[in-house]
Amino acid sequence: MAIKHFLQFKDLNREELDYLFERTRWIKQQFKSYQQYWPLTDRTLVMIFEKASTRTRLSFEAGMQQLGGSAIYLNTRDSQLGRGEPVEDAAQVISRMSDIVMIRTFEQEIIERFAANSRVPVVNGLTNEYHPCQILADIYTYIEHRGPIQGKTVAWIGDSNNVCNTWLQAAEVLDFNVHVSTPPGYQVELERAGLYGHAHYEEFSDPMEAARGADLVTTDVWTSMGFEAENEERMIDFADWQVDADMMKVAATDAVFMHCLPAHRGEEVAAEVIDGPQSVVWDEAENRLHTQKALMEYLLLGKVDLK
Ligand code: CP
Ligand code: NVA
Repeated sequence: MAIKHFLQFKDLNREELDYLFERTRWIKQQFKSYQQYWPLTDRTLVMIFEKASTRTRLSFEAGMQQLGGSAIYLNTRDSQLGRGEPVEDAAQVISRMSDIVMIRTFEQEIIERFAANSRVPVVNGLTNEYHPCQILADIYTYIEHRGPIQGKTVAWIGDSNNVCNTWLQAAEVLDFNVHVSTPPGYQVELERAGLYGHAHYEEFSDPMEAARGADLVTTDVWTSMGFEAENEERMIDFADWQVDADMMKVAATDAVFMHCLPAHRGEEVAAEVIDGPQSVVWDEAENRLHTQKALMEYLLLGKVDLK
């Protein structure tokens, strides 16, 4: 089987995604019923972190162990990666000693260079541009709660960041719509988002209009990792882009609220929303585990018979 990477959402097509969502359901069910499932015995996942993480590290590490394999954590502080070893050399070495690699880093270009020199599948655990594993979990969560996402409308309120870009790519692959509202000066950049065009998204200057009638309302921090120097300015620029109860009221009556977490209550989301009845954020976080187990199984073993 040719090596398959997951560097951005559109690396998987609709048919592969449908398979993964089906597979996730079964893998989650096994986990919930304490059934041992070890298809990746003796396989090793290397996780490289150049930025902080709670969910991504935990879900990949626990997920690999639950599939019978093991996981090794590397960061830039105490590996040669932080001392200028070329990413191409690191990829050659790391991929000779492991079966799959997950990387959280800064520019997308870094992970692409790593993948180009890797003998094993590489998974994007967040870059400045994308967070594909997050949207895999988010869409699975939507399906669990509300059914197919095709034709639905997602409202993205806030920064046009890595998570936003990934929603936009997912909309193209899976055929749904995204209403995006960002403050002036923070709009989506088509090329950076890796989009083909505007067919699946619409921009709104007023966040309330973006949320109107939406089936899913979502947001993320105003300042992403790596952009901390802009924090003070962003607090001012984003002040009117908070998802609050009034905004949820104009969305569809059965709309769900999602946030990739970590969240800042009182900034991008009001406590009454994230802690309220429409919020599915804890299921969303848990589903990182189940969807990534299905992803790792697929990248290493290909499709297995659906049960
Ligand atoms: N959502 C997410 O990726 O969380 P972490 O930064 O904790 O990994
Ligand atoms: N957009 C956020 C997501 C964190 C999971 C960041 O990049 O910091």
